[in-house]
Amino acid sequence: MTHGEIWILGATGRVGRAVAARIAAAGTVPVLVGRDAGRLRKAAADLGLCADSKIVVASGSDAMAAEISWQRPAVVVNTIGDYAETAVPLARACMPGGHYLDQANDPTAFHRLLALHDEAASAGSTLVTGAGFGVLGTESIVARLCENRPVPSKVRVDAFASVAVEEGVMGTALATSVVDGFAMGGRCFEGGRLVKTRLGGEVHHLALPDGERMSAVGVPSGELIAAQRVSKAPSVSATSGLVPASRAVRAALPPLSALLRIGTIRSFAIDWMAGIKAKATPRPRPHTWGHAVVTWPDGTVREGWLRAGDAMDFTSAVAAQTALQLAAGKGQPGAHTPAAALGHGLAIAAGADFID
Ligand SMILES: NC(=O)c1ccc[n+]([C@@H]2O[C@H](COP(=O)([O-])OP(=O)(O)OC[C@H]3O[C@@H](n4cnc5c(N)ncnc54)[C@H](OP(=O)(O)O)[C@@H]3O)[C@@H](O)[C@H]2O)c1
Repeated sequence: MTHGEIWILGATGRVGRAVAARIAAAGTVPVLVGRDAGRLRKAAADLGLCADSKIVVASGSDAMAAEISWQRPAVVVNTIGDYAETAVPLARACMPGGHYLDQANDPTAFHRLLALHDEAASAGSTLVTGAGFGVLGTESIVARLCENRPVPSKVRVDAFASVAVEEGVMGTALATSVVDGFAMGGRCFEGGRLVKTRLGGEVHHLALPDGERMSAVGVPSGELIAAQRVSKAPSVSATSGLVPASRAVRAALPPLSALLRIGTIRSFAIDWMAGIKAKATPRPRPHTWGHAVVTWPDGTVREGWLRAGDAMDFTSAVAAQTALQLAAGKGQPGAHTPAAALGHGLAIAAGADFID
């Protein structure tokens, strides 16, 4: 194994560039991995890395997995997206001994990666999925509220991301996540089992701690899986403030979801969305908020909030902190969500604070 090397797959992308910048700022030179040497060199120069800093050019996720198996980096940060397909082969390539993390946020990708738990534990590798805002921003609150307490009966988590938009196209990685999220349809845990629900059926109206009023709609997400695993509650739901909560939009969600499950329509929607051009826009609210409400069988209810700045900044800080802590040997071998791997203090290390 090449001791200490942290590889950033997709280092020319939004998340990849931001994570690489944070790792470099912490004093570790990241290895930039991508499909185009010229764009990788430009990304390295933008980061202020020296001209001969190591880059790895690989044509796609299979070629990246082959390079990982061959060169044995200590930690791999996967920011290339399509995690339901890319996470497992890339994580397997890190074993034995190497560590892996990604920013997945969908139940399918979560189940596939978390199913590698025993394999990773015996290989001495730590695999972390969901190392970003939505998952750690809600999982860490639930972990705090449930610490040293019996198993609750019910948990709800809500994520209110406030994100500045970078000028440019949305790109295939993010478009695939959005389209596949809608295509999956609603999900929640009932009786300890993940069950289908009507997409858009659950809506909550909340006052944020800074006084702003927001609405959030139930979505299938990694937040849902992480909140269930950390609490072990039989009944769990998760909502997002990014989905418009108007009646008209919510009524359109189930037919839209059914349409997006048709292969050709899914591909068309991803291509169309990937090409949408955005203007640079500042974040709409000063803070990003995570929220959790935990209910115990005796009727006790506890509620908590996590406050961060820009959600994308928090995501890159979580990924960088996770990578640095794994490189320092702090992870438990196995496959985990972020707070389960490194504790809820990871959110504080990434710049957030908790408000009870
Ligand atoms: N959980 C969270 O909190 C959170 C937050 C933000 C984003 N995300 C997720 O993180 C992922 C990345 O988002 P982003 O905004 O950084 O996307 P992006 O700007 O489009 O960057 C994607 C990067 O991955 C590379 N890539 C894409 N497909 C690839 C493939 N098949 N093989 C090899 N490289 C490939 C791209 O390389 P090229 O330059 O060669 O195209 C680019 O460098 C998305 O899935 C997004 O949904 C999660």
